Amino acid sequence: MFSTAMDHLKCQPFLILFVSFIGFISFFKNSIVFLRWIFNTFFRTPKNLIQSYGSWALITGSTDGVGKAFAFQLAQKGHNLILVARNFNKLQQVSYEIQVQNPNTKIKIIVVDFSGDVTKGIQEIGKAIKGLDIGVLINNVGVTYRRAMFFHEVDENIWKNLVKVNLEGTTLVTMAVLPGMIRRRKGAIVNMGSGASIVVPSHPLYTIYAATKAYIDQLSRCLYVEYKHHGIDVQCQVPLYVKTKMTSRVASIEKSSLFSPSAEEYAKAAVAQIGYGWRSMPYWPHSLQWWFASSLPESLLDAWRLSIGLNRRIQT
Ligand SMILES: NC(=O)c1ccc[n+]([C@@H]2O[C@H](COP(=O)([O-])OP(=O)(O)OC[C@H]3O[C@@H](n4cnc5c(N)ncnc54)[C@H](OP(=O)(O)O)[C@@H]3O)[C@@H](O)[C@H]2O)c1
Repeated sequence: MFSTAMDHLKCQPFLILFVSFIGFISFFKNSIVFLRWIFNTFFRTPKNLIQSYGSWALITGSTDGVGKAFAFQLAQKGHNLILVARNFNKLQQVSYEIQVQNPNTKIKIIVVDFSGDVTKGIQEIGKAIKGLDIGVLINNVGVTYRRAMFFHEVDENIWKNLVKVNLEGTTLVTMAVLPGMIRRRKGAIVNMGSGASIVVPSHPLYTIYAATKAYIDQLSRCLYVEYKHHGIDVQCQVPLYVKTKMTSRVASIEKSSLFSPSAEEYAKAAVAQIGYGWRSMPYWPHSLQWWFASSLPESLLDAWRLSIGLNRRIQT
């Protein structure tokens, strides 16, 4: 018995050394990740998008929210724009507002309702981009349900529209723009995903929306790998809440705040991250939320998201 206790004591220095070593490795790894995040978020020089990719940018869903804010940001950086959305008057209004601030920006507008038959719209896009160096494509258009709903409650028209807009829109516009980028051997494509399918393990009561955003995430990842060697940078951006018409409707966000920035604040951070990595959460307070969420058990996050969904059903 005495000798077993002695053996145990002899083992301890080795055990302590081993545990300290593992602790050090883990601390070192986390420090590297943290320092890299600080650098990428606050110090890395944004790419010169015109020089790197080309002078024209095409933005879908550009009459409101994040898409409109992207259009202003890119115009300020000297891009000419092709604005795509469903409402001609709103497109004209946005185009006018941009030109008041940036008189040299050339702007083309194209009306496409992505929830309808898009054949003609995609042809229009094909004609409009002919001969132009479309350097940046922002696949921003996206919709969600008007209120929180269980899967079996979602009307067929609603989910079919949602799938059409969120999946078909992004896929077809990318197919229209990509061949030109391949020929020029340069281009950047930003697809708007969502934290709804990445940060939290589930998004109950907005299931089909979250599922479409998971498609966007995987689409972006695969395209990133397929076209990297063609000089094309594909990126999925995964914001959490941004104060827009969409979030005012579904999450009652009426004012921007630290964790729900205005579309303008978001787009400023978002443009700076274009071309850096296949997935990006450009707005830094969102990254903090992501980090915090990833340290919690999934079952807890599932329960929290479900309770949010159920509360929204009561409010809306
Ligand atoms: N806001 C957020 O917190 C958040 C978070 C994560 C991801 N996202 C994603 O970011 C993107 C933009 O969201 P947002 O909040 O800026 O939305 P938003 O304020 O509702 O704006 C959506 C834009 O898309 C256009 N649009 C809607 N349905 C269309 C259709 N059928 N055909 C053509 N254009 C259509 C809208 O046109 P009208 O002006 O005519 O309505 C508007 O220009 C979406 O993909 C969304 O899923 C947003």
